[in-house]
Amino acid sequence: MQAQNYIDTNDYTKEELMKIAELSLLLKKCIKSNYYPQLLRHKTLGMIFQQSSTRTRVSFETAMAQLGGHAQYLAPGQIQLGGHETIEDTSRVLSRLVDIIMARVERHKSVFDLAENSTVPVINGMSDYNHPTQEMGDICTMMEHLPEGKTLTDCKVVFVGDATQVCASLGFICTKMGMSFVHYGPKGFQLRENHQKILAENCKVSGGSFLITDDEDKALEGADFVYTDVWYGLYEAELSEEERMKIFYPKYQVDMEMMKKAAPHAKFMHCLPATRGEEVTDEVMDSDCSLVFDEAENRLTSIRGILVYLLRDKLGEPEEAQFDTLKAELYGFINKL
Ligand code: CP
Repeated sequence: MQAQNYIDTNDYTKEELMKIAELSLLLKKCIKSNYYPQLLRHKTLGMIFQQSSTRTRVSFETAMAQLGGHAQYLAPGQIQLGGHETIEDTSRVLSRLVDIIMARVERHKSVFDLAENSTVPVINGMSDYNHPTQEMGDICTMMEHLPEGKTLTDCKVVFVGDATQVCASLGFICTKMGMSFVHYGPKGFQLRENHQKILAENCKVSGGSFLITDDEDKALEGADFVYTDVWYGLYEAELSEEERMKIFYPKYQVDMEMMKKAAPHAKFMHCLPATRGEEVTDEVMDSDCSLVFDEAENRLTSIRGILVYLLRDKLGEPEEAQFDTLKAELYGFINKL
């Protein structure tokens, strides 16, 4: 039987995503108060990484440890994913060995194939299509830093630059939540038709809106959150670094001049790692309006929530008394060894 996965937030309703965000923030409150609920005791997470990672890896490993479980790091190249052993077989095997799987993959199809063949939940730790755990962390960060008197649905979020998987993901979650989302990027590097179709569907349900433009004033006007990512994302193979700089620099670099075009209370966000001096200046990164390190911390916040949500039917342990017969058999056997 297939378990519930976390591959794409578009598989979830707004209400379900809000529940995960609220659970994440509640678990954060517990842990900040020094209460570490051992909800994932005896649970093991298998973490497949086809690419390197700082935030995602450390967050998953820390979340499992804090909640009483354990995480296994399967480094890039350490296991074969779709090599000698098929993805299908790897998935079936891991389903017998761990309680939940996380995979950061080069191609979205790989995480999808893993999930298709898994009997335990599979979490997408980033693919070339989207980054759903980043989305949840970002929504938690925005909820913690809402402009005075505003709710999420009142907020305008502008993504500046290349249409990376993080850009697509930010668009997905913002339109799901009924927010106003803008992708401000150069023609040819804007969210594609398949993304736009999903944004439109989300807006129809949530009442949110989206705009894709290369007009800076229009994009930034009244923005509550200004977000960017590196310039070597989805279309990495297509252009050299020099060519990319010509396209994005300086127009799409987030600097203080650009931030001044947003609302006076606007905050700056970045999924990190950042290339300081390219997509964002040091001045913005290190300014009072920068949320980048809160955002990085909230990767852990949201990953705790996602793990507990997906394993919610398997939390806790039955009363020890239920094991009396098994215990007697086991200790009887061991004592005779
Ligand atoms: N934002 C993010 O996913 O960071 P890592 O690549 O370090 O995991």
